[in-house]
Amino acid sequence: MPALNEIAALRSETPGCAHHIHLNNAGASLVPRPVLEAMQNYLTEESLHGGYETFAAHAGAIAGFYDAMAKLLHTNPRNIAFAGSATDAYARALSAIPFEAGDVLLTTDDDYVSNQIAFLSLQNKLKIRVLRAAKLPEGGVDPQSVKELMEKHRPKLVAVTHVPTNSGLVQDVEAVGRLCREREVWYLVDACQSAGQMPLDMAEIGCDFLSGTMRKWLRGPRGAGFLFVSDRVLEAGLEPLLPDMAGAVWVENDRYLPMDDARRFEFWEKPFALLVGSGAAVKYALDLGLGGIERQVTALAEHTRQQLSALAGVLVLDRGSRRCGIVTAFFEGKKPADLKKALDGAGINTGFGATVNALIDFKEKGVDWALRLSPHYYNTHAEIDRAVEVLAKVS
Ligand SMILES: Cc1ncc(COP(=O)(O)O)c(C=O)c1O
Repeated sequence: MPALNEIAALRSETPGCAHHIHLNNAGASLVPRPVLEAMQNYLTEESLHGGYETFAAHAGAIAGFYDAMAKLLHTNPRNIAFAGSATDAYARALSAIPFEAGDVLLTTDDDYVSNQIAFLSLQNKLKIRVLRAAKLPEGGVDPQSVKELMEKHRPKLVAVTHVPTNSGLVQDVEAVGRLCREREVWYLVDACQSAGQMPLDMAEIGCDFLSGTMRKWLRGPRGAGFLFVSDRVLEAGLEPLLPDMAGAVWVENDRYLPMDDARRFEFWEKPFALLVGSGAAVKYALDLGLGGIERQVTALAEHTRQQLSALAGVLVLDRGSRRCGIVTAFFEGKKPADLKKALDGAGINTGFGATVNALIDFKEKGVDWALRLSPHYYNTHAEIDRAVEVLAKVS
């Protein structure tokens, strides 16, 4: 296994690097060969021996997913559930909160679009109230505002997105977590854009649920996600709105017992090839080390911001005292379609966000779209410089 500074070796273990400059790791990263092979081998075995038989023969590799994910999050395998996506994990967690009419859900301006839609749906259906805490002058949720709103409104749930999809900001989930723990308030963290690009410690964050995906910074497959479930949740008997026979046992005609671990939040049927690939992806990240990954990603992102800022008419939009691997920029007088065409033509993968992806953030920044570049540790300065060179030539 190459080390983090062995970029050439890391790239030769990533087949996609031979085809593209991939600066869309916040969309979906390129899977490394060990992850690809783990999934291919599993699928081959299923085709030769049968799905249930392959499952029975690979209990070790399947348990390996829960073990690796527990190491990544500094928790126990019993606190980990597999999910079909970050949103799937998030929705299952949200459905477990015993909301009643009049309850308050406290969140931030920078929470993910789908989370905001889910909160508003609960507001419509269950008559809860959605409140958003104020921001710090430099960007990111203000813990003092969270504290004041908690004291005034006693929310049933606090929900914070660690890293928003549309900016390089890292929100202070630990400070909010301390407030939740002092007041015993349920706390849900969306770590979809932070898992795999920085260390995550469940005790330090103090959350009850934390959701994420495999396909972004963890470099795993699409169609796979995870949910951390705290012991507090398990002991309090919270369960998803609709558990199935993996999450509960039907013990009497009119009674079931929920599982005593986080499997309570899983469904029985799973894409086991993806689950095994996810385990391989998490092990890959653990072997490289999350502290080093964060340093390398942050340095590449800072380089990207500097290069973009040097272009005339380019506004780098990222705010916050702590920033990460997502770089967003607005190009005055340019059309996103023209930028995309030029980048695609040069074999450079990037992402674009529109106002509907970040309603509050983009309105405040006075933009209606942004280019998103998201380098991972396997990208190079030369790749970033090439992307900036292509962007500079778009008229
Ligand atoms: C911050 C954040 N949360 C949640 C999601 C949703 O993840 P998924 O598409 O896996 O449901 C995304 C996807 O981009 C995201 O950026």
